[in-house]
Amino acid sequence: MQMLLDCDPGIDDALAILTLLREPVDVIGMSAVVGNVPVETGFRNLRDLAAFAGRADIPVFRGAELPLVRDYTFDPTVHGVDGLGGARIPASPSPRQEEHAATAIARILRASKEPVTWVATGPLTNVALALRLDPSLVDKVSRLVVMGGSTLRGNVTPAAEFNVYVDAEAWQSVLSSGIRPVMVGLNVTHMVGMTEEDFAVAEGIKTPVGQVARAMLAFYREVHEQGGWGEPKLHDVVAVLGAISPELLETRPAHVAVETGSALTYGMTVVDEREAPERCNCDVAVGVDAAAMRARMLKALQSG
Ligand code: RIB
Ligand code: CA
Repeated sequence: MQMLLDCDPGIDDALAILTLLREPVDVIGMSAVVGNVPVETGFRNLRDLAAFAGRADIPVFRGAELPLVRDYTFDPTVHGVDGLGGARIPASPSPRQEEHAATAIARILRASKEPVTWVATGPLTNVALALRLDPSLVDKVSRLVVMGGSTLRGNVTPAAEFNVYVDAEAWQSVLSSGIRPVMVGLNVTHMVGMTEEDFAVAEGIKTPVGQVARAMLAFYREVHEQGGWGEPKLHDVVAVLGAISPELLETRPAHVAVETGSALTYGMTVVDEREAPERCNCDVAVGVDAAAMRARMLKALQSG
């Protein structure tokens, strides 16, 4: 499987990246987008995480500075100012790629000999830009799996999940592109939280990758405890592993629309499963093998 990853690292993005880079997947490119952190911070984190995991060879690109339409205000509460909860990792030795992520993604997809699995674990700004640059890219993507939205409530507001809330117009653009994404929303990612047993296993991981993951998880756990949010949620790990192993997700076809006009419900994903099959524009995750996902991430962290 060839894969592209677009993300906003962020702690759960970083855990997803470290897990992905221990999976038997051909990662042909990764890109950073504005979201949990300013894009320059996410770009630095992504480059450093790739090198730290021994994959400095993977090309990493810097993407959108701002959402398509709205402004953006960075909030360091959940992932810390550095986006990794203060975890220290060495700087990547690789030279910075100067090409913008949107054009790089379009170039890589056009050149691919086989359809590519594309995963997005941050706001969809880069994905929307690439698809607007070249709508025919839809034919080069076998599956677009996106962490975002919710069939139930939001997390940033009662209605909106963070990745959609940052750039709802990007979600609307991607949903109308014909690419038919797999939506991995809060309704399933909230089922995948680090348990006390998982933390005990993580405590025993002595690999360099495991030690960095432990530092990030300690910050992430504290944030969740202070927020009263329960177990630290592995949102982006669910999307990445669900893309590699679709059998870990249960999905249903639906028509998904995104609210972009209302101050109260901006970023809400309105999921309609009543729609006739030809009107469905998305496959929405409604179930997940949470234990398998958690075990697979811990196994990856233990392997180096
Ligand atoms: O709402 C959770 C999502 O927003 C995750 O992708 C997390 O990293 C943040 O980007
Ligand atoms: Ca993310």
